[in-house]
Amino acid sequence: MTELGVLYAIVCAAGPARDAKRLVDTAKERGWDVCVVGTPAAVEGGFLDVPALEAASGRPVRSTWRREGEGKRNPAADAVVVAPMTMNTANKWAAGIADTYALGLLAEAVGLGLPVAVLPFWSTALDAHPATRRSLEVLRGTGVRVVYGPGEWVPHAPGSGGRRLDGYPWELVVDAVGR
Ligand SMILES: Cc1cc2nc3c(=O)[nH]c(=O)nc-3n(C[C@H](O)[C@H](O)[C@H](O)COP(=O)(O)O)c2cc1C
Repeated sequence: MTELGVLYAIVCAAGPARDAKRLVDTAKERGWDVCVVGTPAAVEGGFLDVPALEAASGRPVRSTWRREGEGKRNPAADAVVVAPMTMNTANKWAAGIADTYALGLLAEAVGLGLPVAVLPFWSTALDAHPATRRSLEVLRGTGVRVVYGPGEWVPHAPGSGGRRLDGYPWELVVDAVGR
């Protein structure tokens, strides 16, 4: 197995998060050392199976910054994926807001020159908001690979997201960030 380096897997508060172990397993199979970072909304809202993710990754799931004076808790990232990416995180990230640990990592990632790939999950109703369209363009413009479009991920009709969980294409975001 090739060791690719450290992959930060940022998981937001949307339905597919319950299956994020599939992301960890896929990335580890490809040779990444995976650190999972949940948004506070994902962790506190019960979207994540934290014990399963820690067992699969072999690392603690983080959602908050370390305290001033506390040592670093995980190795630095070599690449970053966001899956599922919520509309909220896309819009805040594109606007430069860094008020959660996950958004702080994302705000820095592009400037650090790290490869970043994202896999959204939201309905056509949220997709139609002009801020969503603008944010994806801003992110693409900074070099972020957005796994979105025919043959990749496309938004679902409102109320139908539950039927899109099993087929959520986790592997595409791992492929997209791979070197
Ligand atoms: C049950 C449930 C399902 C949700 N599904 C989605 C979703 O599929 N896509 C989305 O963008 N937001 C969804 N949300 C809303 C987000 O959780 C909310 O905007 C939250 O603030 C996102 O925080 P985060 O971006 O920091 O993870 C859902 C909320 C709940 C309670």
